[in-house]
Amino acid sequence: MKKLEEYVRSIPDFPEEGIVFRDVTTVLQNKDSLKMSIDQMQALLDGVDFDVIVGPESRGFIFGVPIAYNLNKAFVPVRKKGKLPCETIEMEYALEYGTATIEMHKDAIQPGQKVAIVDDLIATGGTIEAITKLVESLGGEVVKIIFLMELQGLKGREKLKGYDVDAVIQYE
Ligand code: PRP
Ligand code: ADE
Repeated sequence: MKKLEEYVRSIPDFPEEGIVFRDVTTVLQNKDSLKMSIDQMQALLDGVDFDVIVGPESRGFIFGVPIAYNLNKAFVPVRKKGKLPCETIEMEYALEYGTATIEMHKDAIQPGQKVAIVDDLIATGGTIEAITKLVESLGGEVVKIIFLMELQGLKGREKLKGYDVDAVIQYE
């Protein structure tokens, strides 16, 4: 059987010149690699004591919800600005390509809850750094951060110093 990383499709110059886009759709559209991706990400949470998974729109939803379901935990979505209907807190951040603002519902995390953050990929780390700030401003404690893929060259981990960060697949 092929290894999980062989299912990721790499597209040069998308969405901008100079970016190599690591396309996860080819992992999802094959039943073996879909299962491997969920299983191998979930294994990174073995032995971690947490209450809730927080994941960002949109690719964080794809991986965060099945892992939360399998582990009998709750899932809290972080959305791009303007999508959540109730009272929110927000944070602007920089991405590998552009900027964005994300929001969470104010009542999504209870003070003292232990949070695991799940996303498909860390590039600059801007998205997840913003999420750690949102979670902590609501009184949550970020106990683990996991990704399917890490783009090491963009040094996203440096933005997440002090957190326990793991990824299944590393790119230089
Ligand atoms: C992508 C990816 C991560 C983020 C990583 O999401 O899914 O969430 O960028 O980049 P960073 O480490 O530099 O913050 P994007 O905002 O493109 O949204 P999408 O999942 O809806 O495509
Ligand atoms: N999000 C930010 N940078 C990315 C990349 N190079 N490939 C896929 N998703 C990304």
